[in-house]
Amino acid sequence: MKPKSKILIIAGSDSSGGAGIQADIKTVTALGGYAMTAVTAITAQNTTGVLSVVPTKPENIEKQILFTSRDIKPDAVKIGMLHSSDVIFSVIKALKKVKTKKIILDPVMVAKGGFKLINDRAIKTLREKLIKKAHLITPNIPEAEVLTKTKIKNLEDMIYAANILLELGVKNILVKGGHRSTKYMQDVFLNKKELKIFKSKKIKTKNTHGTGCSLSSAIATLFACGKTLNKSCELGIKYVNQSIGSNLNYGRGHGPINHLSSIKIDRKFK
Ligand SMILES: Nc1ncnc2c1ncn2[C@@H]1O[C@H](COP(=O)(O)OP(=O)(O)OP(=O)(O)O)[C@@H](O)[C@H]1O
Ligand SMILES: [Mg+2]
Repeated sequence: MKPKSKILIIAGSDSSGGAGIQADIKTVTALGGYAMTAVTAITAQNTTGVLSVVPTKPENIEKQILFTSRDIKPDAVKIGMLHSSDVIFSVIKALKKVKTKKIILDPVMVAKGGFKLINDRAIKTLREKLIKKAHLITPNIPEAEVLTKTKIKNLEDMIYAANILLELGVKNILVKGGHRSTKYMQDVFLNKKELKIFKSKKIKTKNTHGTGCSLSSAIATLFACGKTLNKSCELGIKYVNQSIGSNLNYGRGHGPINHLSSIKIDRKFK
């Protein structure tokens, strides 16, 4: 097959391959897209935690975005970890020139093991400058709490937080429910016209490293090739659910999901 859409991923590298830019590339590829990247930071990490983060200079991030997009125009952009205010401003500046409307922002703040990935000033810039520029933002519960300055304990709180984000000027919001200890997973999708609760099976596993990165990349890929945002969220959630369910069980900590769960390899390569 030939790729159905071209996605530019702006995110940090995860040396263990389960989250970050590695998860993004795998997801985009597994769903039939062409992945391009702008690396915002290089982390040394494994399934047990983050050892170090080396940030990329803002001007280098800008160069990766502009030089790449000038040659191959992305149909959608997925934004992941942006660790500082300066980086956020450089991404905003560069994206203005790329002129892609389909921007999916995963407002990454904390890694699964609890490691803080961005500083407080960056959170403020993210909230005040970046979230409005995205077509969709996909905060998890702790991120939605920080962005809306509320506490989220149940589904109503998730919907309430999504409404606050709508009032802040965000066009579409998907509040992810992965951090709640419920029987089913519930992700809340909201825009001015629709409220949709995506309900899926909760899989009992510690191996959920990179679920958020993978979900936003899946949505970007599906949305870029013409599906509605609502449908892209629904199918993206299905893809992540299936990939968690296919439990690889790699590593001693929070292991990766199986990004290949959507792929069948052609007979001649077997
Ligand atoms: N145990 C699970 N079983 C099924 N679905 C899950 C499970 N954990 C998370 N999900 C789903 O994975 C998606 C990502 O949600 P989650 O809240 O884990 O994101 P996140 O915290 O940003 O992840 P990350 O650790 O990659 O940053 C959501 O659709 C959520 O419902
Ligand atoms: Mg996340």
